[in-house]
Amino acid sequence: MTSWTRRILLSSPLVASLSYAVTVNIPVDAPSGAPTVSGSLFSLSIEQDRWLDWAGNTSRNEFFFNTLDNLIQITGEPPQIRIGANSEDHTNFNGELQDAQLVFPDPTTTVPYPEATKIVVGNAYYEAAKFLPRDTHVIWGVNFGENNVTAAVLEAQAIRQAFDSSAVKDAGVTLDFVEIGNEADLYRNNGLRSTDFNISEYVKEWSSFAQNVSEAAGISSTSHVKFWGGAFADSSHSVSSFSPQGMFSNGILNSTEGQFITTVSQHHYSGSFCSGDGGLLQDLMTKSTIRSNLTIFSPDVTAVRNQGLDYVLGETNSYACHGAPGVSNVAGAALWALDYALFARQIGATRVFFHEGIGFKYNLIQPLTLTRSTLDASNLSTPLPPHVQPPYYAAIIAAEAIGDSGDTQIAELTVNNTRVAGYVFFTGGKITRAVFINSEAFLTTTAERTSVHVDLSFSSGGPTSMDIKRLAIGHADDVSGLTWGGVSYETEDARPSGEETVETVDVSDGFDINATEVVMLSFQ
Ligand SMILES: *[C@@H]1O[C@H](CO)[C@@H](O)[C@H](O)[C@H]1NC(C)=O
Ligand SMILES: *[C@@H]1O[C@H](CO)[C@@H](O)[C@H](O)[C@H]1NC(C)=O
Ligand SMILES: *[C@@H]1O[C@H](CO)[C@@H](O)[C@H](O)[C@H]1NC(C)=O
Ligand SMILES: *[C@@H]1O[C@H](CO)[C@@H](O)[C@H](O)[C@H]1NC(C)=O
Ligand SMILES: *[C@@H]1O[C@H](CO)[C@@H](O)[C@H](O)[C@H]1NC(C)=O
Ligand SMILES: *[C@@H]1O[C@H](CO)[C@@H](O)[C@H](O)[C@H]1NC(C)=O
Ligand SMILES: *[C@@H]1O[C@H](CO)[C@@H](O)[C@H](O)[C@H]1NC(C)=O
Ligand SMILES: *[C@@H]1O[C@H](CO)[C@@H](O)[C@H](O)[C@H]1NC(C)=O
Ligand SMILES: *[C@@H]1O[C@H](CO)[C@@H](O)[C@H](O)[C@H]1NC(C)=O
Repeated sequence: MTSWTRRILLSSPLVASLSYAVTVNIPVDAPSGAPTVSGSLFSLSIEQDRWLDWAGNTSRNEFFFNTLDNLIQITGEPPQIRIGANSEDHTNFNGELQDAQLVFPDPTTTVPYPEATKIVVGNAYYEAAKFLPRDTHVIWGVNFGENNVTAAVLEAQAIRQAFDSSAVKDAGVTLDFVEIGNEADLYRNNGLRSTDFNISEYVKEWSSFAQNVSEAAGISSTSHVKFWGGAFADSSHSVSSFSPQGMFSNGILNSTEGQFITTVSQHHYSGSFCSGDGGLLQDLMTKSTIRSNLTIFSPDVTAVRNQGLDYVLGETNSYACHGAPGVSNVAGAALWALDYALFARQIGATRVFFHEGIGFKYNLIQPLTLTRSTLDASNLSTPLPPHVQPPYYAAIIAAEAIGDSGDTQIAELTVNNTRVAGYVFFTGGKITRAVFINSEAFLTTTAERTSVHVDLSFSSGGPTSMDIKRLAIGHADDVSGLTWGGVSYETEDARPSGEETVETVDVSDGFDINATEVVMLSFQ
């Protein structure tokens, strides 16, 4: 039973505020087939050229560590870390190097922090994995783009050696997967292969590389470490293109090495915009476009799961171009990230790896002091110290909703409102929490903030009391100043600051959710 009414509340003689109401049915017990959701649903993909700036070089990057540890404090589980991406296919190896040797193109106003085009790394680069939090699971990419198997083999050997070293072992950091090449479907456009490079040729070349790389990395039928397959940017599903279906039908799983693929990764951005505006921000946040951006992968997930393999979005974020300025780096993007990750679990992705690079606009985390603007490359009059960006709050909220039970299940709620999305979480099969996202963009330029009143209707034996936490946001286009239940993560060391504020109300009262707000309900 869902009711919908529109009420005009004259809260003052001058301002009429628009308020909507909706009733949402909530199950008390997990519906059959509700998937479990991991505490590391929000995971990270890191552009590997500047990996040492993320992890730390001669000592741990405390700021980055703290951003990860905040999540561990909530879920008991670190985000998984994939290191690779574009620069993975431009990386060469020289064992002696402590530092990474990097050659960068000039910054431009649209790409203020370009990826290095030449990267040479040594053993120390891989050993920096020891600076990650205990129990972190790592996925590392090797160079396939340059078609030089020696480079891939040297990297794979160094990765194995690093993760077998006592420093990394003592740190409790584990390598789970090696990825061979990033977005190979784009090689024919970016000069890394000829223009007729196709999926059958890819499978042939991948399989040949995989023979050498598996040997070098110690990947076998009995090893813990396996291959991540795919990592394509394509989303066409076609058996004749770069899709999971294309890999399978060309027999990638038939070879000995192909059988070491246990997870398939695909990449996705909601579009590519090098400039942004309020309309673009609303498009990003919109419930229906988040769903249509993800349901396109449903056939791929089915094809992958039918092979008994795991499926992840191994590199994703809002908009390519390292994000759209004023869109990917603002509060509204936090609402996008939360709805996107939670909905990705509904289509069958186990984890969502949000892509991050030093100075990229769509980052959750900026782990280093920056001296030029991430938005237009202009010199900053005062350097910008390490900080979290608004989408980091999405990772915190998801962590709290999922909790540390280890068996949390999630279901999407039917909310008859084009702007409000809802999810419910179960522990031991029983309802614990619910998250609602009102993705109507309340911009600096918007005259009035609308709100929606949500009433909850429980099947039977529902809870009577609930705690409410809110992600407070001034405007969807704010770059800072968010608080989650009164707590800020925009601190010098990324540790939370401020008194937690929670409202306790009767379930029968329902709750209001403002435009551009997240509400989490915890049931007693
Ligand atoms: C959903 O809301 C619309 C109004 O926007 C209403 O016409 C419709 O009946 C509602 N649907 C259900 C299933 O309640
Ligand atoms: C890493 O450490 C070396 C040796 O101390 C130093 O030369 C280099 O600049 C550092 N690199 C980074 C990325 O911090
Ligand atoms: C790759 O494997 C082939 C076949 O075993 C071998 O001949 C070749 O030397 C290897 N290449 C490298 C760089 O290890
Ligand atoms: C292939 O990689 C190796 C190791 O990085 C390097 O020594 C060699 O010059 C590369 N070959 C080519 C053709 O670039
Ligand atoms: C794929 O590319 C290979 C090598 O260029 C070529 O021999 C083959 O015919 C192509 N296959 C298809 C289906 O186009
Ligand atoms: C791969 O193996 C499957 C199952 O044995 C077989 O049906 C398929 O034809 C093989 N594909 C290729 C391209 O060899
Ligand atoms: C993805 O979302 C964007 C808005 O962010 C929209 O423009 C685009 O059409 C969506 N793509 C799909 C496949 O739904
Ligand atoms: C920024 O500062 C650097 C030196 O710190 C200078 O070389 C460069 O020209 C400046 N760029 C702009 C756009 O002002
Ligand atoms: C919702 O927005 C209105 C108008 O900005 C504000 O007065 C109110 O405090 C907000 N409500 C909550 C619960 O944040």
